[in-house]
Amino acid sequence: MKKHVDFLIIGTGIAGLSYALKVASKGTVCIITKAKADETSTNYAQGGIATVMDALDSHEEHIKDTLIAGDGLCDEEVVRLTIGESNARIDELISWGAEFDRKQSGEFDLGREGGHSAHRILHHKDQTGAEIERALLKAVKEHPAIELLEGYFAIDIITQHHLGVEVTRRTPDIECFGAYVLNPKTNKIDTILAKTTMLATGGNGNVYNTTTNPVVATGDGVAMVYRAKGKVKNMEFIQFHPTGLYNPSEKPCFLISEAVRGAGARLCSIRGDYFMERYDKRLELAPRDVVARAIDSEMKITGDDHVFLDCRPISKTEIFHHFPTIYAKCLSIGIDITKDMLPVVPVAHYSCGGIVVDHDGCTSIKNLYASGECSCTGLHGANRLASNSLLEALVFSHRAAQHASAKLSGISFCEEVPDWNDEGMVLNEEMILITQSLKEVQAIMSNYVGIVRSNLRLKRAWDRLGIIYKETEELYNKSVHSVKLAELRNLINIGYLIIKMSMERKENCGLYYNLDNIKK
Ligand code: FAD
Ligand code: SIN
Repeated sequence: MKKHVDFLIIGTGIAGLSYALKVASKGTVCIITKAKADETSTNYAQGGIATVMDALDSHEEHIKDTLIAGDGLCDEEVVRLTIGESNARIDELISWGAEFDRKQSGEFDLGREGGHSAHRILHHKDQTGAEIERALLKAVKEHPAIELLEGYFAIDIITQHHLGVEVTRRTPDIECFGAYVLNPKTNKIDTILAKTTMLATGGNGNVYNTTTNPVVATGDGVAMVYRAKGKVKNMEFIQFHPTGLYNPSEKPCFLISEAVRGAGARLCSIRGDYFMERYDKRLELAPRDVVARAIDSEMKITGDDHVFLDCRPISKTEIFHHFPTIYAKCLSIGIDITKDMLPVVPVAHYSCGGIVVDHDGCTSIKNLYASGECSCTGLHGANRLASNSLLEALVFSHRAAQHASAKLSGISFCEEVPDWNDEGMVLNEEMILITQSLKEVQAIMSNYVGIVRSNLRLKRAWDRLGIIYKETEELYNKSVHSVKLAELRNLINIGYLIIKMSMERKENCGLYYNLDNIKK
């Protein structure tokens, strides 16, 4: 089946939905998601959105904190424009119906997180993302010009390559004509021809075996762009959140928001040693890379599987009011955080790198945009400051929407695009070939490409991933497409990019820490 649309959007998190609402008055819009519309990282976000609203705070302070966390690799112009536009984008989010907690005085109740020098986290209890997703989805579903398709999996973006033209990383004018999409009703691959395509496909946490990310976070957008010979960068900067709930059988790992440390919770070993003093004078509110490495180091020294978060310094009123979901979740597994110590571990959480975009969300491929976690704008540099990602998505989706709307009238559909050809392909009847390879990829990445890396570990990961890559490409090239196989292929591409870019980085900075780069 062939379909024509002015704006194709892949992803229903904050980046895709806010973009959809902006372009809907300019042309036809189709937004697809591979799962249910609210199965997104956005929906799981707890802490909130960073924004300057307190009279004692300033944009300059927020800029400074973002640059410090990014450890010299942020693009300062991008940091300034993002934070400069933050209040306008938050006002808009509120006008779309998102509600944030207020104090009795009526002012916003701003939280604090690691790396922030002030209280500036706008939140909705500990369910900020769910509130944003609710409001945006409602607005999208009510909009008559937006078509929302659930369960549609984008396999690849369409470029000249699909017209039989050779495309290499040096080809100057790679162009995007839409995407090939697996239709869940027919199990066939549809051709969606689009004048402009927006990738809002989120993160890639599932390349590791423990992550806070939902199962949809398999790096599909980044992998598609990489295969299409577009530009991708900074993939070595994977952010491990210091405090995932230690509950080994649970996937995704339940997050214990950094806001809990912002409210006063302390980290200690199983034996009760409050260790952060030995690592950083900012203690529990040092940037995430520092806290995650401190926990990792303590766990290696003691041999323990986790450390504890002591939430007892927080008043019960504050816990019940600000952290009801975290309290209830912990209670459901027998831990009362007002009395008991909470076992936590660092877990894969956020990808700072991704598809390279300019100030308008344009990728290196013509008529292809990217926003949100799959993109690399330059805001985060070597480490993302907590709660800056929801903000980044809002700002860049807005800019991309303006750019794409202005260009639309000059773009035509590419009618020469052929339909997907799966002649001769067979059904893969052995799921084990996929599930076992996925486990191996996740084990390789977790054991060799985690918080602390070394040249030897990276080389091992490279060699082992290479074997799985070959096997999977062979399987992929002869199989009728399935979501699980396509996701495995994407995760292998992501693992490859993380390892390759790690090997290329010769100095430690931000989230990147290689034992062989430590100056003797
Ligand atoms: P997502 O919200 O992840 O949406 C991705 C969408 O793309 C989904 O609809 C998915 O189905 C779709 N998709 C992916 N691949 C395909 C495909 N091949 N075909 C079709 N559809 C596809 N950030 C903050 O700023 N503050 C916080 O407090 C915060 N807390 C967090 C807590 C948790 C537990 C997690 C996991 C993240 C948190 N983050 C937070 C990070 C932030 O939530 C994400 O970076 C952000 O929501 C990403 O939004 P997005 O729109 O880019 O992607
Ligand atoms: C958290 O609530 O700790 C997550 C915040 C973030 O990832 O920005």
